[in-house]
Amino acid sequence: MGSFDKEINRRRTFAIISHPDAGKTTLTEKFLLYGGAINLAGSVKGKATARHAVSDWMEIEKERGISVTSSVLQFEYDGYCINILDTPGHQDFSEDTYRTLMAADSAGMVIDASKGVEAQTRKLFKVCAMRGIPIFTFINKLDRDANDTFELLDEVEAELGIATCPINWPIGSGKGFKGVYDRKSESIITYSDTQKGTKEGETKIISINDREAMEAEIGAAAEEKLLEEIELLDGASSEFDLEMVRAGQLTPVFFGSALTNFGVEIFLKHFLEMTTTPLARNTAEGIVEATSDDFSAFVFKIQANMNKAHRDRIAFMRICSGKFDADKEVKHVQGNKVMRLSQPQQIMADERKILSEAYAGDIIGVFDPGIFSIGDTVCSPKMKICYEGIPTFAPEHFAKVRQVDTMKRKQFIKGISQIAQEGAIQIFQELNTGMEEIIVGVVGVLQFDVLKYRLENEYNVEIRLEPLPYEYIRWVENKDIDMTKLTGTSDMKKVTDLKGRPLLLFINSWSIQMTIDRNSGLELSEFARN
Ligand code: G4P
Repeated sequence: MGSFDKEINRRRTFAIISHPDAGKTTLTEKFLLYGGAINLAGSVKGKATARHAVSDWMEIEKERGISVTSSVLQFEYDGYCINILDTPGHQDFSEDTYRTLMAADSAGMVIDASKGVEAQTRKLFKVCAMRGIPIFTFINKLDRDANDTFELLDEVEAELGIATCPINWPIGSGKGFKGVYDRKSESIITYSDTQKGTKEGETKIISINDREAMEAEIGAAAEEKLLEEIELLDGASSEFDLEMVRAGQLTPVFFGSALTNFGVEIFLKHFLEMTTTPLARNTAEGIVEATSDDFSAFVFKIQANMNKAHRDRIAFMRICSGKFDADKEVKHVQGNKVMRLSQPQQIMADERKILSEAYAGDIIGVFDPGIFSIGDTVCSPKMKICYEGIPTFAPEHFAKVRQVDTMKRKQFIKGISQIAQEGAIQIFQELNTGMEEIIVGVVGVLQFDVLKYRLENEYNVEIRLEPLPYEYIRWVENKDIDMTKLTGTSDMKKVTDLKGRPLLLFINSWSIQMTIDRNSGLELSEFARN
């Protein structure tokens, strides 16, 4: 294998999905620790002050002490070059979080052992499942009292519709947490609390056939329970099948405690071995392999105003094939222009560094003079391809928006349209009313504040947002539909999006089914393929 192929094949690009507080940041910190990227855990997201010292991103970010963007972390571990895409999870949950998943080749799913599957995990999982990427589960916080292990696995299967295959198995939880049983080697790995330390605790590995040593270590009661569970487990769980894992139909499950750094390296090692090298991607002209000689990438996120003084925009691209070379010209397919990407950079948690080269699997951020849109393809000028666009994801919060000063209509329309174009918000109009009444839809409520802030600061337009009760949105898939004839429930609203596609807004989920029942042949979708 040449060095070019080697570089690509050692890359692993994934996102970590979870509900807030399940431990995603803590787990990421521990990953970085193994990679030697940081010396002390605690510096990924950092505490508000540490981050602000280096970040010149939006004011709003500083005011709230949260990050509006997601960042990319790259580090080396065991010969692998790892790219972790950070998916914002707290109040800053937005459509970008979903889009980031389009750039990942696999996902790590963190679940809090005392909470099970939570709302945000469910939403993010859906997007991964839509793409059929491999998903690896880390059940976290075993150092605290956890739910029954069988119940946790049943919940993952029932709620998410994916088969589970535990790679290891917890021995007790909370104060009684003794470690994990590794099914393949039939041995136990004992737990020792490192008291939030950065190093792994002292662990012992004992074969389960050495009953005496095992009992001495974990006690007779825990031993008996474990042996019982192993027997049940071997009879009940799905067989490990790498093909199914890679197709996203089976999730390998690991147990541990990110905080005390137990089970993290085991998870990371297996994850890296089982997951894929950068995936081949679909284009309208066929599949492009990551190791293709020619460079290609697609834009999955646009971040405006990372530097207030310059009002710059950064377009984040996922490299899908070949090698990016800063000196070479590329073609922006949608703009039909050959150009050089300016200031290509890698954006780490809190620093940017200028890159001269990068490979398939990597993420680069480039200065965007306002030409890129989400989903755009950039490739070597000799290639004739266009990547499948990024779907538009269903917003969950809606508001009617009005400008306070009616004289500023022009700036208002310009501003709100540009911000929608960037993909920070979605705008809708009531059917057949033009821009008279604008409805804004967002995935995370913080985007409302971002919109208000940006309209005031960049376009000098003050707005009022009036919340609307809709929670569900469905794109109408039928091509030749007469929307005026469509009958629904009284809570339903007919609108169109920026691209003129018809949609329906609902307050209740049952209204959706009712509307489908009332209009034979009606096809509704939660994602809009671009
Ligand atoms: P998130 O990124 O998924 O939102 O979660 P994060 O890692 O920030 O963790 C949320 C809280 O859960 C943190 O506590 C963190 O220390 C704790 N935590 C993470 N993993 C474990 C674990 O394995 N065991 C236990 N017991 N706790 C864990 P916090 O009090 O909110 O923050 P901090 O003051 O500890 O930083």
